[in-house]
Amino acid sequence: MQYSGKVIEHFKNPRNQGVIKDADAVGQVGNPVCGDVMKIYISVNRRQTTDGRQQDYIENIKFETLGCAAAIAVSSILTDMVKGMTLDKAMKLTKDDVVKELEGLPEAKIHCSMLGVDALKQAIKNYRHENNEKIQK
Ligand code: FES
Repeated sequence: MQYSGKVIEHFKNPRNQGVIKDADAVGQVGNPVCGDVMKIYISVNRRQTTDGRQQDYIENIKFETLGCAAAIAVSSILTDMVKGMTLDKAMKLTKDDVVKELEGLPEAKIHCSMLGVDALKQAIKNYRHENNEKIQK
């Protein structure tokens, strides 16, 4: 199996690996194809746009991944890509965006990229769910 140089580099030196102890939300998913598991922690903050709107963005992000080399590389590059990004924009991210950023993945490993995108979106959904509940209380 041929991995791109970027996949190998992120696998060997993963960015943002670890835990955020006081994370605002966590997303965890398992890959139905292989059984591997990824957990994503996010800290969210709010900023004002130039036209005065408030937007929530990912201030910090970490991951824990029990998975293959591709899953580690996906976790690493994905967390780098979305740090500082608004939640709305991060929700639009696709596995193709991640695969492109990694300069490709072998066909048999494309399913590994789903794990990262799904865990991220799960964390954002959990954050929004918990925050809506807080606002309603
Ligand atoms: Fe399980 Fe890659 S083989 S995530």
